[in-house]
Amino acid sequence: MGDAPDSGTPDLDAIKDQAIAAIHDARTTEDIRQVTAEVSGKKSPLAQASRRMGALDPDARRELGKQLHDVRSTIEALLDARRSEIAAEELATELAGSRIDLSEYIPGSIPAPAERGHLSLVSLTRDALEDVFVGMGFEVAEGPEIESDWYNFGALNIPPAHPARSMWDTFYLDLGAPESTMLRTHTSPVQIHLMEDAVAHDTLPIHAVMPGRCYRRDTPDARHLAVFHQIEGLVVDRGISFADLAGTIEVFTTAYFGPDIHSRLRPAYFPFTEPSAEYEVTCTICHGEGCRTCSQTGWIELGGCGMLDPAVFAAVGIDPEEWSGFAFGFGIDRCAQMRHQIADMRALNENDLRFLRQF
Ligand code: FA5
Repeated sequence: MGDAPDSGTPDLDAIKDQAIAAIHDARTTEDIRQVTAEVSGKKSPLAQASRRMGALDPDARRELGKQLHDVRSTIEALLDARRSEIAAEELATELAGSRIDLSEYIPGSIPAPAERGHLSLVSLTRDALEDVFVGMGFEVAEGPEIESDWYNFGALNIPPAHPARSMWDTFYLDLGAPESTMLRTHTSPVQIHLMEDAVAHDTLPIHAVMPGRCYRRDTPDARHLAVFHQIEGLVVDRGISFADLAGTIEVFTTAYFGPDIHSRLRPAYFPFTEPSAEYEVTCTICHGEGCRTCSQTGWIELGGCGMLDPAVFAAVGIDPEEWSGFAFGFGIDRCAQMRHQIADMRALNENDLRFLRQF
């Protein structure tokens, strides 16, 4: 009987040593999971030892409880530490397998700097035309690309149902305005804005050129685009005659195209000028022989011009007895085409670098 308590006392040192050895031998997450069950699970020697406490007297029970607690704490701490070590080792192994070798990128290959572009031929032409006119004493002004019916047509002596509207058919916008709103078909509406401003601020005379984008329902071909550019000219002063208009165009032609290009004014009709003329230059593609670009005529129309119609003066409130003037509107794309002998104007919009790099 005397050895009953002794034989019932578990050998906690042995249990602890076995647990330490098992924990130490664990190599993987799976190993440590199994070792945890073996050394501290419900069927572990530690758990069995705990279950024996019930059979002990109070003092022995208290003593065993304290020892069990110490052993369990030691084992739990060792399990935690080994678990963390294994997790770190496994992560390191995993990362080593997928590591990016940065040395592959040394020395760095520096990409070639982006090639610098330059202004499009249309912008270059616009600048060159402005320079010529500024040199002749004109100012440069601009106007809106979206216009009301009044500015694009009405004030320019083109009332509703006037046949001239059909040749300037355009893109209409329904913006809920009482009168129709449209993408302007020419830069002539800027004439109206400038004259209204000058009347309002009492700043007549006017000597201005107004470059800008225009829109038409034109089918693109060798000489036409649906979106193109014009430069408008407007002079309102005292004693202006057709000779001033013809002289201005002559000086412009020589300054921009050089002495070898001939120009002519051909009688024409525009509702807002009277008399009116078409301004044409020798076709530079065929040198006047006749070709596809000039429709076999030997001449290319660059624009229209004429003396300001009294009806336009009336629309803006300028006294035609005191003031007279002229206006012109040239195609900027057309000027570029003739100056640089571009057989087909559509090349301006095709973004072909072999074409664009030439300018
Ligand atoms: C006009 O637009 C008048 N506003 C010009 C004017 C101004 C006359 C002031 C009198 C006084 P026209 O429709 O002919 O006129 O166009 C003038 C020029 O713009 C043409 O000669 C041409 O050089 C250019 N042009 C016209 N339509 C196109 C187009 N679809 N593509 C490229 N250029 C064009």
